[in-house]
Amino acid sequence: MRTPLIAGNWKMHGQTTENKVRLQEIVLGAKNLSQLEFAVFPPFVYLTESESLLKDAVNVRLGAQTVSEYANGAYTGDVSAGMLADVGCTYVIIGHSERRAYHHTTNKQVAKKCEAAFSAGLIPIVCVGETLDELERELTLTVVQEQLEVVLQLKDNCANFSQLVVAYEPVWAIGSGKSANPSQVQEVLAAIRLQIARKDEKLAQMVRILYGGSVKPSNTAELFAMPDADGVLVGGASLDAKQFIEIGRLWNK
Ligand code: PGA
Repeated sequence: MRTPLIAGNWKMHGQTTENKVRLQEIVLGAKNLSQLEFAVFPPFVYLTESESLLKDAVNVRLGAQTVSEYANGAYTGDVSAGMLADVGCTYVIIGHSERRAYHHTTNKQVAKKCEAAFSAGLIPIVCVGETLDELERELTLTVVQEQLEVVLQLKDNCANFSQLVVAYEPVWAIGSGKSANPSQVQEVLAAIRLQIARKDEKLAQMVRILYGGSVKPSNTAELFAMPDADGVLVGGASLDAKQFIEIGRLWNK
């Protein structure tokens, strides 16, 4: 059984006071939705205090928005997987399209970051997805498969690889208010599961696959209806605790 995951990527938003209010509301709301797992991804500097605000939470985990591929060293501004584990992270988002676009993260680096995450005992949420131009050139599956392939190659070298989470996020649907058409999404999610199954059938049944890109309460039901969706990665709507919990409530139906 794959536990549904409702993940909230806060990106570069929030400060101490509003974070506290938001987290308290999330912890309270999540309690009544015990079949689900929630995860929040505050900016690095707020991880430690978020961890202490989550200490009584039963089903809300902490995660980071990116991680270095290196264990330690002279990498100014970077944060290692070991450090994230040390401050209480369970998850880390890797290869988000904003990191790929603004920080030029390559597929190869995504794989290295995943390896670093697994060796520190973190669970990577690997983001894959096509740009608008790639969509229009009908390259969605090619791009997504290429992005995933490098990660799947780690399968025999990483302990707990079956905990991997893949998030399909069409780049053009992120923050645009335009969520992808459900049948299109399901087609990609199924292709992702098939790609994993070709390597390992059992693994394909264990890996959770999320959808992300303008997820909000009003489109949750149609995403939930997709057989291969195991949850969502929410950006904008996760900054509003009520909406974030409402997405979970609709997923729980
Ligand atoms: P959005 O962001 O929900 O604001 O579109 C999703 C994401 O970037 O993970």
